[in-house]
Amino acid sequence: MIETYRKKAKHYDVTSRLYPAPGYPQHAQRARAVRALGLRPGDTVIDVACGTGLNFPLLEQAIGSGGRLVGVDLTDAMLERAEDRVEAYGWRNVCLVRNDAAQFDFPGDVHAILSTYALTQVPGREQVIAHGAAALRAGGRWVVLDLKIPDSTPRWLSKVGVAVVHTSGSLDEWVARRPWETIREAMQASLEDLTWTELCFGTAFLAAGLGLDRGR
Ligand SMILES: C[S@@+](CC[C@H](N)C(=O)[O-])C[C@H]1O[C@@H](n2cnc3c(N)ncnc32)[C@H](O)[C@@H]1O
Repeated sequence: MIETYRKKAKHYDVTSRLYPAPGYPQHAQRARAVRALGLRPGDTVIDVACGTGLNFPLLEQAIGSGGRLVGVDLTDAMLERAEDRVEAYGWRNVCLVRNDAAQFDFPGDVHAILSTYALTQVPGREQVIAHGAAALRAGGRWVVLDLKIPDSTPRWLSKVGVAVVHTSGSLDEWVARRPWETIREAMQASLEDLTWTELCFGTAFLAAGLGLDRGR
């Protein structure tokens, strides 16, 4: 995984505009995900598997200079690009952490957690969701935006689609494993009021849930 994203890092911001397919409204979906966080000025937000920080301008706009943004990612080269972005914008309230999201020690009492186009690729996604949920303040939001295969797609057709657009064994495995279902189950288990919205004819989803009141 690290090697894959080390290679992609340099051109990620440009190539990701075509991700997952030309014409996919990626920026609009990011903006929708950030709105779902319900952020207010001064809030603390974590961007899990933040990559080069494509969500940061939207998050910064919402939290302002009095807020705090923590970006976590496994790949050094992606974080270097994120660091460049932080410097270019002159943000002083961003902390970047290199770590496996499943091992990340979430700070307590955070207002919101976001992960975009990443969690379906992270092996310990259930742990990431559970650890994040435990760190959220009551009513804080956990929002995941990611890709999926439409439910109505027969398995044989998904396989044909994968074969046509990609020959990678790992993508084939991704389809077979249906990681978005694990994400949904893990969010249902650790958050309240989960909403699950299918986007772009079921090829993407936006999931949002609220942190529980743990009597803190
Ligand atoms: C497709 S990119 C998405 C980046 C960013 N969230 C975005 O929306 O542009 C996937 C990112 O997940 C990161 N990643 C993959 N596995 C990870 C893990 N176990 N822990 C943390 N980050 C991980 C990769 O390094 C990469 O930056």
